Amino acid sequence: MIPSIRLADATEVPAIGQGTWHMGERSARKHDEVSALRLGLDLGMNLIDTAEMYGEGGAEQVVGEAIAGRRDGVVLVSKVYPHNATRAGTIAACERSLRRLGTDRIDVYLLHWRGSVPLAETVAAMERLVETGKIRHYGVSNFDAADMADWVAAGGRAATNQVLYNLGRRGVEWDLLPWCRDHGVSVMAYSPVEQGDLADHAALGGLAAELGVSAATLALAWTLRQGNVMAIPKAVQPDHIRQNRAALDLVLQPALLAALDRRFPGPKGPEPLAML
Ligand SMILES: NC(=O)c1ccc[n+]([C@@H]2O[C@H](COP(=O)([O-])OP(=O)(O)OC[C@H]3O[C@@H](n4cnc5c(N)ncnc54)[C@H](OP(=O)(O)O)[C@@H]3O)[C@@H](O)[C@H]2O)c1
Repeated sequence: MIPSIRLADATEVPAIGQGTWHMGERSARKHDEVSALRLGLDLGMNLIDTAEMYGEGGAEQVVGEAIAGRRDGVVLVSKVYPHNATRAGTIAACERSLRRLGTDRIDVYLLHWRGSVPLAETVAAMERLVETGKIRHYGVSNFDAADMADWVAAGGRAATNQVLYNLGRRGVEWDLLPWCRDHGVSVMAYSPVEQGDLADHAALGGLAAELGVSAATLALAWTLRQGNVMAIPKAVQPDHIRQNRAALDLVLQPALLAALDRRFPGPKGPEPLAML
């Protein structure tokens, strides 16, 4: 059975999904990108994260092609630009995303980051989209603990908060991860292999080799250790996809977790939320 995490409404999703940033930017790569997402789905990583921003809609078109004929088995996440996140703008952006994705509903629709539109307007639009069945759930991305409190105060719900989190970016452990755990909000770790850098990290590679896995597999397994966090690595190369899937089968022992803590220390105090 694939380890899963529970979104706020009890929807179970696999603890590793698939990212799509930089997909859909070049037509020559489209075939490989569609094949990559399909391979990930075949391996059980059936949550796909995308956004209207990625390739200015191009990534959503890649996803649409990858999920054609198998939509019901996929949990689709997309995001609205902050400058589109007005009451009418959110709904129009969602409708454009639905057309590109070739589906009638998005499973989890996120505000990509906090902009200048009052949160209450975005929340009202999200609630309307749920009522009309265009989205099933909604949430946020790049929100720190204070932003989360403001979102809730504006009447918002959050199936998830998608934030930058990996071995080298542990600031959220200070207050955001505890806030999310206490409020039943799951966390999606984006850039979980630091856009490929952790895969080439020598010390991490050494620890991973002792387990017979790649550094990327170890980095991903580490992000999942607390139960309330899932990861959404992006990979096009088939061996990367398989390594990422392997993280779901890797259980990290306390001695290894301690070694990772020494090499990649957690925060010693509050830090501003890191974003890419
Ligand atoms: N909400 C936000 O603001 C936000 C921001 C950033 C990202 N995201 C989401 O999170 C997803 C993941 O983040 P990301 O794309 O920035 O970075 P990432 O997943 O940490 O890294 C992607 C890069 O790492 C490589 N890679 C993946 N698996 C690997 C492995 N097992 N071994 C070696 N290299 C590997 C990929 O190469 P190949 O593609 O060549 O296989 C790609 O170049 C995004 O795609 C996007 O969906 C959200």
